[in-house]
Amino acid sequence: MHAKFLFGFFIACSLCLIYVNAQKVPITVYYESLCPDSRRFFTTQLYPTLQTNLSKWVNLTLVPYGKSNQTQLAGDQWQFSCHHGPYECQGNKIQACALHEIETTSPKQAEQGFNPTTLRFINCLMDKTEKKTDPTGADQYTFPIKNCSEINHIQNYAGIENCAQHTTGSKYLLDLGIKTKKFQENLVSVPTIVFNDKYQAEESKAAEVNLIKVLCKYITKDKPEECKNCGVTFTSSLLVFALIVVKSLF
Ligand SMILES: *[C@@H]1O[C@H](CO)[C@@H](O)[C@H](O)[C@H]1NC(C)=O
Ligand SMILES: *[C@@H]1O[C@H](CO)[C@@H](O)[C@H](O)[C@H]1NC(C)=O
Ligand SMILES: *[C@@H]1O[C@H](CO)[C@@H](O)[C@H](O)[C@H]1NC(C)=O
Ligand SMILES: *[C@@H]1O[C@H](CO)[C@@H](O)[C@H](O)[C@H]1NC(C)=O
Repeated sequence: MHAKFLFGFFIACSLCLIYVNAQKVPITVYYESLCPDSRRFFTTQLYPTLQTNLSKWVNLTLVPYGKSNQTQLAGDQWQFSCHHGPYECQGNKIQACALHEIETTSPKQAEQGFNPTTLRFINCLMDKTEKKTDPTGADQYTFPIKNCSEINHIQNYAGIENCAQHTTGSKYLLDLGIKTKKFQENLVSVPTIVFNDKYQAEESKAAEVNLIKVLCKYITKDKPEECKNCGVTFTSSLLVFALIVVKSLF
């Protein structure tokens, strides 16, 4: 009887430990600053989802590079060519810089899976970057670095601008290029969304239109409110299971 009790207690406690040590879901997004599908995904799926309680379940890696290519000119001089032209290279570089620079003045907390200030800033760029036509009829883009910094109370606006105009920006963009090409030599789809470091094409496509649904599949313990219409919660099934185990032992 005593041994059985200890055994039951052990089982229940192991389950509780698994329950408490809820892991964040690694999500990597490969995308481009001027790609319409990337902008739509960012502003209608990624950003809104990370404003909910689901944010604490996500460990996010942003890789703004997409289908770009890099060529070494000399030493630390690199030339980039981008899917949507030279302006996109500039946009990607600004985001590459933001990912580093904002962290220095508004660092994320250790338990956070992403920097909320950087996310807000990049979402603002994805949302508000405007296309104009120059006198020759060519497309021209203005990146609202200043406006997006002001709106989001980012102190080192100058740091981001400076980085994007110098070799630091090229170095950060090159790092993203190396990361992207290590994942896929030529990115097949933009954006590409990878869960748990395992690429699945159908899942990436599904996440583009319903990120919450795919994310919730990966949250196996203690599903939050936002996932509840996706099925029976793990908490309640755990409780029932623990009761059955304990009952069967006595
Ligand atoms: C988010 O979680 C907090 C506490 O963890 C809770 O009070 C709040 O109601 C939740 N919000 C939503 C929208 O579920
Ligand atoms: C990058 O290189 C690949 C392979 O050579 C090519 O297919 C693609 O068009 C290039 N992309 C850009 C944006 O230059
Ligand atoms: C997020 O993932 C990285 C590895 O990609 C890891 O080093 C880091 O600790 C994780 N952060 C959190 C808060 O889980
Ligand atoms: C920045 O904000 C000002 C005032 O809100 C607005 O007039 C201007 O057009 C904005 N600039 C850009 C690049 O969005």
